[in-house]
Amino acid sequence: MAELSNYPTKDPVLVTCGLPYASGPMHIGHLRTYVPADVFVRLLKKMGVDATFVCGSDTHGTPVLVAAEAEGLTPKETYQKYHKILKDTFPKLNIFFDNYGTTDDKENIERTTQIVTTLLDNGHIYPKEIETPFCDTCGRSQPDRFVRGTCPYCGADARGDECDQGCGRYIEPGLILDPRCAVCGNPTRPITRTHYFLKLSAFESFVEKFLNEVDGTKNAKNFALGWVKEGLRDWCITRDLDWGVRFPVDESLVLYVWVDAPIGYMSSTEQWAKRIGKRNEWEKYWKPGDGRLVHFIGLDIVQHHCIFWPAMLKGSGYNLPFAIVASGMLKVEGHNFSRGRGYVVWILKDYLDRGLDPDYLRYYMVSYTSQTKDLDFSWDAFADKVNIELVGTLGNFIYRGLHFAHKNYGEIPEGKLDPELKKEIEASLKTIAEGVNEYELKKVADEVMRLASVGNNYFQSNQPWSLVKTDKKKAGQVIFNALALSKALAVLIEPFMPGVAEKVWGQLGFEAKTVHDVHFEDALSPPKAGTKLKKPKPVISKIEDEQLVELRRIIKERVLAAEARQKGGPKPKMTPIKETISYEDFQKIDLRAGKILKCEKVEGKDRLLKIEVDIGSEKRTMATGLGHLYKPEELQGLTALFLVNLEPKKVGGIESNGMILAVEKAGNPGEWVPVRLDGVPPGSKAA
Ligand code: 2FM
Ligand code: ZN
Repeated sequence: MAELSNYPTKDPVLVTCGLPYASGPMHIGHLRTYVPADVFVRLLKKMGVDATFVCGSDTHGTPVLVAAEAEGLTPKETYQKYHKILKDTFPKLNIFFDNYGTTDDKENIERTTQIVTTLLDNGHIYPKEIETPFCDTCGRSQPDRFVRGTCPYCGADARGDECDQGCGRYIEPGLILDPRCAVCGNPTRPITRTHYFLKLSAFESFVEKFLNEVDGTKNAKNFALGWVKEGLRDWCITRDLDWGVRFPVDESLVLYVWVDAPIGYMSSTEQWAKRIGKRNEWEKYWKPGDGRLVHFIGLDIVQHHCIFWPAMLKGSGYNLPFAIVASGMLKVEGHNFSRGRGYVVWILKDYLDRGLDPDYLRYYMVSYTSQTKDLDFSWDAFADKVNIELVGTLGNFIYRGLHFAHKNYGEIPEGKLDPELKKEIEASLKTIAEGVNEYELKKVADEVMRLASVGNNYFQSNQPWSLVKTDKKKAGQVIFNALALSKALAVLIEPFMPGVAEKVWGQLGFEAKTVHDVHFEDALSPPKAGTKLKKPKPVISKIEDEQLVELRRIIKERVLAAEARQKGGPKPKMTPIKETISYEDFQKIDLRAGKILKCEKVEGKDRLLKIEVDIGSEKRTMATGLGHLYKPEELQGLTALFLVNLEPKKVGGIESNGMILAVEKAGNPGEWVPVRLDGVPPGSKAA
């Protein structure tokens, strides 16, 4: 039989996945990496490898700051909000991490500080004066995503630190051409400041050697080697921001987010070790020893993982990655994935909340194309995959055997595993092991589908439906083999369709263990004859035409709306400024900070909320018309600005004694945002 665990190592493996920025909900772009990584971990476990899977939310840097400014939240509130959403979405996709932390956790701040201090002590970091963009209109330094301009390498429109529309290169602070502020659009001006650099140029031959030795996909290696050949520039690791991990030497600076983000892999492992009660277990992977590190990443972050990260690890004495697996980029309906242009599928809103099975999407993500090629997601191709491959080939075979067995025998009939079928299962196991070795998960998925087709052919050519009329025992033999193959399929599909696999497992009458817990060898042992069977149900259901129409429509409308926005279509409507009032009139207005102590719905009134507000000197009851925009728990506890000398008015049966002030977002009529005064004591007066 094929050697099952011929994955390049029998040592314990730590698998990590690029940490998602906690700046928005999950989208299909995320799945290009998280699904293959989860499938890979499950495959390793099935091969008997000791595999641990860690990840976490990336909470620092300008991506989180930009989201915070857009939502009127603090950076911490922003990452906490999205960290929770991301953390809760993963299990809904059958993606389970052994630990999911954040880069703002104590463990990560401490580990980052330790690593940077070691790099400083080892002489790998030095200060240098550089020019960085400052926006006079916004009155602040605008690093990274706060600035846009022209890529110095390829001339494409680019973000301050990344050529996101062109060559994909990392751009050092101050190098972007024609910089303009991404907030107000005005040109920035350079200011001179001392920043700190990692002496990457000194790591050039180390990085080259590392890349020649590291396992993983060729795309990661080759891209990175190309950059090394051009010569490595020293890397600026500090930023002029208030949000991030403080730089130990100069606390007015924070570390660039790409310093503390990958260290999140390490601190997440530390958290895992603590939780399982083996505090030092993390060292097995991160300090020289037997453990192996495998990073799953997207092609856009190869430079960070293949160049910056190994240099940081080497310079601070930690273990180097064993493998770097980069997935190709994602297209949606034939266009480059883009939230702004509407080519996006939101995992909760567009997929899970519509009752679509996560396993279908998992299957699509690993079977559509090779791990390293660009993957095109389209709803039509998705429906074909589900309806033709999953329902037509896999589901159909499993259901036919179970249905026939239940109807004619009520149990698994007597039989012996056909040596030809056994060979087919062995061949599948061998190909699957190759797929794992090559980090080529499509090979795994395709092989499982091939085995399901073998099953369909077996069923078809043995015609148990005719045989049962003349020789029930012989027909039983055929069904026994069909069920043996279904059992094998349940074991083999578990890594990419864990939910479907458990359903098949249950219908085959296995009660003691879950299919998650068995190894690949189990695919070769047929189920026990005599096991009672319940009435089976199809385990996979079709995507119906009406649903497909609806799914296509969502993207179409999103794209049209985005185009209209970009063509300057419906521009934000600015309401004309009202007539001037006298200073005396203004002085009559009494505006104060108030804290919402209680907030509740008003029976029968969708838009109305009843709030109890502490305005410092007293408590007031007020009514507000924000009920269609906010849930009571979102407003309760909030400190906002209130007009406190407005004449009392009865609103929806409530005597309202004051008014919460809110602003209507320009361009989004009807979208009101309360004027928040976080941290201001109730009663504070506005003037
Ligand atoms: O590109 C991104 O989305 C980053 N948040 C990935 C970080 S990966 C790791 F280094 F933390
Ligand atoms: Zn570029």
